[in-house]
Amino acid sequence: MKLESGGLGASSMADGSLRGIGPIILLGSPGAGKGTQAKRIAERYGIPQISTGDLLRDNVQRGTPLGMQAKDVMARGELVPDELVYDMVAQRLRQVDCERGFILDGFPRTPAQAGWLDAFFENEFFGVPQSGKCAPIVIRIDVDYNQLLHRLTGRRTCLANGHIYNVYLQPPRVADTCDLDGSRLVTRDDDRDEVIRERLSAYEMQTKPVAEYYARQGRLVSINGDLPVDQVTEQIFLVIESHRAARADGF
Ligand code: AP5
Repeated sequence: MKLESGGLGASSMADGSLRGIGPIILLGSPGAGKGTQAKRIAERYGIPQISTGDLLRDNVQRGTPLGMQAKDVMARGELVPDELVYDMVAQRLRQVDCERGFILDGFPRTPAQAGWLDAFFENEFFGVPQSGKCAPIVIRIDVDYNQLLHRLTGRRTCLANGHIYNVYLQPPRVADTCDLDGSRLVTRDDDRDEVIRERLSAYEMQTKPVAEYYARQGRLVSINGDLPVDQVTEQIFLVIESHRAARADGF
């Protein structure tokens, strides 16, 4: 685990409140394990996982106007235009289950989105006295490029509950069947070779600078995502707990 710059100083702690966990932002390339880890954080801390990829896929499936605009862009492995995701994210963050905190998985994905999110927090969270909201904890999961390809081509997802498997690395007990509820496992449309390469390139060009944005603010913590799932989770919980302890100490 590595703090990229700055420290857990006063400027990165909004109000020292322990009433909530506050926002947790998970950064990392496609296949780094953001979704896998977000589900574990959600379970441990009782806060929702907000995956912009899942929200967009849901819109595509329901054929909403947003989904219709996003569909072809996602199929090509490119990023959906910033303006299309802002309303969707704002609406989700205003829901009552986000009061104690939430995990952002897949957002922000461009420096413009990161700036928008800071402004959103400032206007809607930190401006509210005694709201118990905290500055975000930003964690980047770093994974070797070849390992990413293996993870993405082997991924299978439960159609019913979203649980994530990997045919090479975390296979289900029965092929193509969810261990938890027996539902069918599917391969995501964008987990095809040619689309994976486009997604990884979009990450390099557009999303990597987001980590630099948070590093400049002294918020970015990088962890080793090449390790087995449980060990990655352990590192993430350590980061979260060290932030909570720092807040309790008033830093
Ligand atoms: P999105 O759904 O966010 O996909 P992504 O960022 O490409 O990330 P993935 O979901 O592929 O990977 P992950 O890091 O969650 O890994 P996972 O835990 O599943 O976005 C999809 C598309 O939507 C984008 O391309 C874009 O078009 C659009 N979009 C979304 N958000 C947007 C935004 N903000 N702005 C614009 N456009 C947006 O793990 C992967 C595999 O690895 C699994 O099989 C898992 O079992 C395995 N695995 C996980 N951890 C480990 C481990 N430690 N060891 C071994 N295997 C592991």
